[in-house]
Amino acid sequence: MDNHILNPMFIPRHVAIIMDGNGRWAKKINKERFFGHNSGIKSVRESIDICLELGVKQLTLYAFSSENWSRPKKEVSSLMNLLSSSVEKEIPRLIENNIKLEIIGNTSKLPEITRNKLLDGVTETCQNDGLILSLAISYGARQEMIRATKLISEKVKKNIISVENIDENIINEHLYTRNLKNVDLLIRTGGELRLSNFLLWQISYAELCFQDVLWPDFKKEHFLNAIIDYQGRTRRFGKIK
Ligand code: FPP
Repeated sequence: MDNHILNPMFIPRHVAIIMDGNGRWAKKINKERFFGHNSGIKSVRESIDICLELGVKQLTLYAFSSENWSRPKKEVSSLMNLLSSSVEKEIPRLIENNIKLEIIGNTSKLPEITRNKLLDGVTETCQNDGLILSLAISYGARQEMIRATKLISEKVKKNIISVENIDENIINEHLYTRNLKNVDLLIRTGGELRLSNFLLWQISYAELCFQDVLWPDFKKEHFLNAIIDYQGRTRRFGKIK
């Protein structure tokens, strides 16, 4: 892959990342799992920087899944603190770089203090029109689809939507990701080859890139390799070229 050069004219518009491998990274150096999550923040920063450099328009990061609530209480609460304190600290940098923060997921399940800090970040950056950085927190694709189905059903019941008119656009409008485009490139670190309930509707035609690197070790070069890999694929969207 090293002998390929990145084509600046063919940059994916929406990149989504499953940031996996923090726990294993920490274990390898005999540290607590939290140390791995904390060390993952620099990979988040680095990914944002590359998106700004390359002109990626939307970056969506899987930071906490609906299923992660069943992890030990201590890990859940340290992750909640890490998410809200990192967002709080990064707000000036987000503003400086014209980044609009969005949170996708069931935020009603978050501790109030976490939710408020995250929503402050969303409010303070809502006028920005550069990179959209979406953090998937308390997010699950199946839960998102159930929610959309309920919202649409309510509107059908009230005659706001007719059943005949339900199409992809209507579904899109009722997902957490209604302000985002379909995912072009999905990267998963940590070596596992699965999707773990992440953006299942939105990745229908995404190119998938699985990398055998633990998230805290994910650097600019890994991101660039994923883009070069993406640029080597032929996207047909079910059609014949
Ligand atoms: C998965 O690794 C990672 C998580 C559940 C948390 C990811 C969160 C961060 C890196 C913090 C991001 C912060 C911001 C502000 C976006 P794992 O714990 O499942 O690792 P393992 O598979 O090695 O056990």
